[in-house]
Amino acid sequence: MSHLDAPGLMSHLDAPTIIRTKRDGGILGNDAIDWMIDGYTHGRVADEQMSALLMAIFLRGMTAAEIARWTAAMVDSGERLDFTDLRRAGKPLALVDKHSTGGVGDKITIPLVPIIMACGGAMPQAAGRGLGHTGGTLDKLESIPGFTAEISRAQIRRQLCDLGAAIFAAGELAPADRKIYALRDVTATTESLPLIASSVMSKKIAEGTRALVLDSKVGSGAFLSTEAESRELARTMVDLGTEHGLITRALLTDMDTPLGRAVGNAVEVVESLEVLSGGGPDDVVELTVALAREMLDLAGVDGVDPAQTLSDGSAMDRFRALVAAQGGDLSAPLPIGAHTETVTATCSGTMGDIDAMAVGLAVWRLGAGRSEPGQRVQSGAGMQIHRRPGESVAAGETLFTLYTDTPQRFESALSELDGAWSVGDHAPAVRPLIIDRIT
Ligand code: URA
Repeated sequence: MSHLDAPGLMSHLDAPTIIRTKRDGGILGNDAIDWMIDGYTHGRVADEQMSALLMAIFLRGMTAAEIARWTAAMVDSGERLDFTDLRRAGKPLALVDKHSTGGVGDKITIPLVPIIMACGGAMPQAAGRGLGHTGGTLDKLESIPGFTAEISRAQIRRQLCDLGAAIFAAGELAPADRKIYALRDVTATTESLPLIASSVMSKKIAEGTRALVLDSKVGSGAFLSTEAESRELARTMVDLGTEHGLITRALLTDMDTPLGRAVGNAVEVVESLEVLSGGGPDDVVELTVALAREMLDLAGVDGVDPAQTLSDGSAMDRFRALVAAQGGDLSAPLPIGAHTETVTATCSGTMGDIDAMAVGLAVWRLGAGRSEPGQRVQSGAGMQIHRRPGESVAAGETLFTLYTDTPQRFESALSELDGAWSVGDHAPAVRPLIIDRIT
């Protein structure tokens, strides 16, 4: 194994040598990592060079020391926010945030933020866009007419004090991640433990939260599908957080089947509003409340019941206030794709497992995600799942409704769904939604 470590020899570093080192299974030294991240952030390293390195990392992996340095270099590529001076009623804010490693139908951040607001926490949420087959909170929220996540530092601070949350595009926080994230999305380099861990943690370390709860997904719809990989990812991220002074904890949660009944952009906002109205699918409510409990515990907020904020309407009130503060108009209709297609049951029985990855890819094909950097996503693209695993099905009834503005996309979306679900005589085995907790 070769070591590319050249302290004091930064001028002798070059991208082809660094790429070759990782391609051949070597370990990158601190200077090589710093040089590459800084060069890419400032345009001295080209997209094709970073793409080649990302693929080499994807194939060869990274040591714990390389991941730690890569993460630190991404944090250092931009500013690091600090809200420790902010006070509410004379007390420091209970700053806490959550991040998911990416799933299908994972709209949890949308109801979770106002729950934390209603419980007295403060949530600085640097949110991301869709990545691969998974959706992104920003793409979903931007389907609300007028909503913007491009808000100033002054507005983030004001909202944290006055309302208890701000949802913002990472922007100048970890700008290296912004560029690398967009590149990974279109170069098939998303499913990599070192790249996911550093991407998530660089944004979270830079965004100025004090405590962090991670939702590390396990199953077909997760970037890392096995429990062992997801566990290692969670452990790596918790350790990175701790090293950077963040109080960090992770839940391992099931992502074999999509969360809830809606997958896409606006359709997931609609489902989140149902949750905030005290209804919504059980799995979405269970996970949202479980994450809220972990977050409040880490932030030292006690004596409040997050579930009650859904039933008494206080979380919905906070959500309305947050959306209005960020320019959104919840009284305007949410966009739904102009064209629909349905999948119907050919026999009666019980719905079996629904493969989360296939649903994520189908929704991506409908236009909810990107195949080129910077592409506009369709807010109205998505899917409704009318029958979830274990529910009774009658022959002829609609099982899935697909939405898009571009009907030529139906064929490829429907072919992703082929073989991804079944109706049979027995209910599938019930798996726990929350598998473990890593501290
Ligand atoms: N979320 C991120 O921010 N980055 C990833 O790589 C995956 C999920």
